[in-house]
Amino acid sequence: MKKIVIKTKTFSYPVIINPGLLSDILNYLEKNQKYVIIHDDLIPEAYVNKVSCACDDPLIISFPAGEKSKTVETHQYLVRTMLDNHIKKDAVILALGGGVTGDLAGYVASTYMRGIDYIQIPTTLLAQIDSSVGGKVGVDFADAKNVLGSIYPPKMVLIDPLTLSTLPKRHFANGMAEMIKYGMIADRAFFDTINNEDINQMLEWAIDKSVSIKKMFVEKDEMDKGDRRLLNFGHTYGHAIEAYYNYEKYLHGEAVSIGMVKIVKDKQIKKELISVLSKYNLPTTDPVTDKKLEPFLAKDKKNRSGQNVFVDIEEIGKAFINITALKKEK
Ligand SMILES: NC(=O)c1ccc[n+]([C@@H]2O[C@H](COP(=O)([O-])OP(=O)(O)OC[C@H]3O[C@@H](n4cnc5c(N)ncnc54)[C@H](O)[C@@H]3O)[C@@H](O)[C@H]2O)c1
Repeated sequence: MKKIVIKTKTFSYPVIINPGLLSDILNYLEKNQKYVIIHDDLIPEAYVNKVSCACDDPLIISFPAGEKSKTVETHQYLVRTMLDNHIKKDAVILALGGGVTGDLAGYVASTYMRGIDYIQIPTTLLAQIDSSVGGKVGVDFADAKNVLGSIYPPKMVLIDPLTLSTLPKRHFANGMAEMIKYGMIADRAFFDTINNEDINQMLEWAIDKSVSIKKMFVEKDEMDKGDRRLLNFGHTYGHAIEAYYNYEKYLHGEAVSIGMVKIVKDKQIKKELISVLSKYNLPTTDPVTDKKLEPFLAKDKKNRSGQNVFVDIEEIGKAFINITALKKEK
């Protein structure tokens, strides 16, 4: 078992990484506590059963899986269901599933009765190494990713790497894009390990390593105004590509994969990046033109007046912020 504590000026919470944790989840939850379990309709039922069996009379709410559910409408549906079931401010939400569930359920927690507690129980690789940590929660709106939301840290993050055994290959690769991102922006040795070894055989270690890198950025800059923005490497184009294709063509990590390749200027770095992304069967190009992406890039939430904020790579393991003039929408 590994325990990483995320500690900022305002919050402190543990991230527990423990293979088999889900079968033992009773030990991590409070007795006589009202829990609301939020999950999507494609997560294996066995995981929902394990968590619900550990809770006393939980409210269980499911929503249709996929990015297209990360909306104001689903947020309203979840809030309404909780109200209809007389959920009070002292209830705790359990966000069980991938990044879509975590972002949505966390956003419900941050808004319901001005904020209730929640626990992240991530079950995709992407959610275990990235989205469950750091407290960014929210929904997509008006062709823009994550444009409504808040920074609202969970009380705890409970990670069971064994749940990844049921994850479809495409979703595993999707998570690898964010892991490769960590190597690119912060840790050359980690990048080399991802490149040279089979990460599937060393998952617990790789999750621990990834969460530790994210911890470093979140603790330095909880409110996302400085260095934490480096975590957005590949995401400016990635988000634009996701939205351009109406969240139908690519998963989040796949779009980020294309976005990382697009933004890196240095030829040798680009070559190494493409090689490792290809090893994990991630896409590295898309025919869409920059012109067509412009309206979506203009909605990026990192933008400042008149400027696009991109993240580029100086050398593998070191990133920097690159600010360019924002092209005017016609
Ligand atoms: N908040 C953040 O800091 C942050 C960071 C990165 C990404 N994100 C967000 O995360 C989202 C993507 O998350 P995702 O890739 O986890 O997608 P997802 O939540 O849609 O999950 C992918 C699919 O896997 C299924 N699933 C979940 N666990 C499973 C398991 N163990 N076995 C089998 N199937 C399983 C789900 O039912 C779903 O169909 C995007 O919306 C992205 O914007 C947020």
